[in-house]
Amino acid sequence: MTLSFNAETFRDDYTFANSPTAIRAFPFPFERDDYTYTVNIEQHVPGPVQSATEFPIHIDEHYVAEMQDRAITLAQDPLRCQSLPHMMTAEWDLVELLMTSMATHYPETFTLTRDGDRWHWINRPLGLDQHFTFGDASTLPQGPMEYITRQCQGDFCLLDQRDDNLWMDAGMVTTQADWSLDFDLGMNFMEWHAPVPLAHDLGVFERALKFLLNLQQGRPVRRLNWTMTIHPRLDTSPENYHRWGIDKASVTPENVGDKVHLRVELQALWRLPRSNAIVFSIRCYLIKMDELVTQKKWARRFHRVLASLPQPIADYKGLARFRDTTVAWLSRHDDGLPTSPGF
Ligand code: HEM
Repeated sequence: MTLSFNAETFRDDYTFANSPTAIRAFPFPFERDDYTYTVNIEQHVPGPVQSATEFPIHIDEHYVAEMQDRAITLAQDPLRCQSLPHMMTAEWDLVELLMTSMATHYPETFTLTRDGDRWHWINRPLGLDQHFTFGDASTLPQGPMEYITRQCQGDFCLLDQRDDNLWMDAGMVTTQADWSLDFDLGMNFMEWHAPVPLAHDLGVFERALKFLLNLQQGRPVRRLNWTMTIHPRLDTSPENYHRWGIDKASVTPENVGDKVHLRVELQALWRLPRSNAIVFSIRCYLIKMDELVTQKKWARRFHRVLASLPQPIADYKGLARFRDTTVAWLSRHDDGLPTSPGF
């Protein structure tokens, strides 16, 4: 598939927009008219052609702009990318996973040639041509994880498995929904999930952890998570809250369609072969309300989900300031017809 890339921004003048193709590929996350937390994990198997899950790693029209935005965030705050010393093998595992997948599924965009441990990587849209020795970090311009995740859409956490738990011991996190890698680094699965309401009492995290500790190589899994963001801003981090938090107070009935975005995270998990670590990818998709309501069934359903969302979840996701205004705006796009489960 030949990809073309948008010239667009995720800050300042916010020129990001989705083409009709990108709207069709948007991973709309709701299977019912209401929402609560569940262990919504499924096998990461290929989805329909041109969908977000067609390939294990999804590259789309926003690729170049997202990589530029990541570079800006890293220049301002290098702690968005961190790795503890024992994670080097997992970093190389990640290089292999991403390069192999990107080159296999987007051959016109990326090429990987392997001759034993001598590898040659070509990234055409970013203009990179790199010979390196797999396993020798001195042959790359950055650490292996940083090198490849500066070239792949989505955030990545590398989780070490020990003591029947998962530990967030490395990551590249620049497009997060208000959490901090710098704060969570070195925490385990239960610790970094501590702020989430309701889910602990529902047993969601206990069951999810048990499942993940048994994740098998070659059988990746995925889940969807969602929140909402004002403006198409990728970097909604606690570190920069002073830059974007105030935007929540700027939503009016007149600007909902343009300013309010549904933010969906396609999260996938792979067991890595050499390190036995797990990689957790968080691929962020943004869609403004004006774009979302071009799909009638999405408008109907999102209106109902947002209107009926349990208050603790709405508060945790930070929707309080603009939820009612958005529900009122969406109600104009809900004809009251019943919806089908599961789409
Ligand atoms: C939220 C990381 C897997 C369910 C979060 C947060 C982080 C995180 C950092 C934000 C917590 C905060 O407020 O500071 C991870 C990592 C995972 C993982 C690294 C890989 C092992 C899972 C799985 C589930 C899950 C398998 C399955 C049920 C949730 C839920 C939230 C959450 C429900 C709240 C999200 C929201 O309402 O926006 N996760 N998570 N996570 N996580 Fe995970």
